Amino acid sequence: MQLEVDHKFSHKHILGLDHLSPEDINFLLRSAASFKEISTRQIKKVPALRGRTVINLFFEPSTRTRLSFEVAAKRMSADTFNIAASTSSLKKGETLIDTARNLAAMQPDIIIIRHSHSGSPGLLARHTRASIINAGDGTHEHPSQALLDMMTVLEHKGRLDGLKIAIIGDITHSRVAHSNIIGFTKMGASVTVSGPATLLPVGIDQLGARVCSSVAEAVEDADVIMALRIQLERQQDPLIPSLREYASFFGVNQRVLSLAKPDAIIMHPGPINHGVELDPDLADGPRSVILDQVTNGVAIRMALLYAIMGGGEG
Ligand code: CP
Repeated sequence: MQLEVDHKFSHKHILGLDHLSPEDINFLLRSAASFKEISTRQIKKVPALRGRTVINLFFEPSTRTRLSFEVAAKRMSADTFNIAASTSSLKKGETLIDTARNLAAMQPDIIIIRHSHSGSPGLLARHTRASIINAGDGTHEHPSQALLDMMTVLEHKGRLDGLKIAIIGDITHSRVAHSNIIGFTKMGASVTVSGPATLLPVGIDQLGARVCSSVAEAVEDADVIMALRIQLERQQDPLIPSLREYASFFGVNQRVLSLAKPDAIIMHPGPINHGVELDPDLADGPRSVILDQVTNGVAIRMALLYAIMGGGEG
């Protein structure tokens, strides 16, 4: 496998896309495109991270992110370990910092963390010597998701610069939306967002997104429509009258798709509430690239693990 190595990736941690330059993002996207081929081989394993130890520390449910980080690490020959909060000593009252210090005492190279509190990956980075990867922290960022989304768009559109990306749904609670707004605008795309007024955070335009009051305005001539789940688990009191009303005003369906460019693609980070934020016919239709996003998740996470380990050099 030949990697283009004309860029020095000098980050120890991946806490958010905020910290990465367009050159860093470009490097990771190109690296991931090279790593993707490994998953198509009969023997899906390379020795790039042999001897490295990766710990998955997930305090919130996950299917795609947790498994794809583990698959990525194993395909690069790292030793991987998973800790679920529900079966750890956190249940006995141990703090996150104490947990991190105890994990660090076992000399892992990388800790991948998902946590409901924004900023917890940064806290770990300050208290351990391991490299930390943010696998989603509260409503803050989900950098590996945005990278795999950019990789998927790049594959289907051949470029990111000059594209129009429409993100529809619960923007307030979506770390995916925040990382995608940061990432796509850094790479020269324009991002519009729309959703119920109660789910559009004040100041989101400062990240670079244009806020649209109607879905029709947001998706007009869009190259990409990204539907997001309503995160009821992060709402103390309901912020929408009902899922049925949400679906009728903000659900992405054939009528919404017809307002976008004729070759617009449909994306969703998952998990999908079929028939709420996205019509099932579109989710499974020819314009959907949702499973490509999942496939690319493994390649992006291989690229991230490799890059923060200094390109695999010990
Ligand atoms: N997209 C995403 O983060 O999915 P999971 O919650 O299943 O990891």
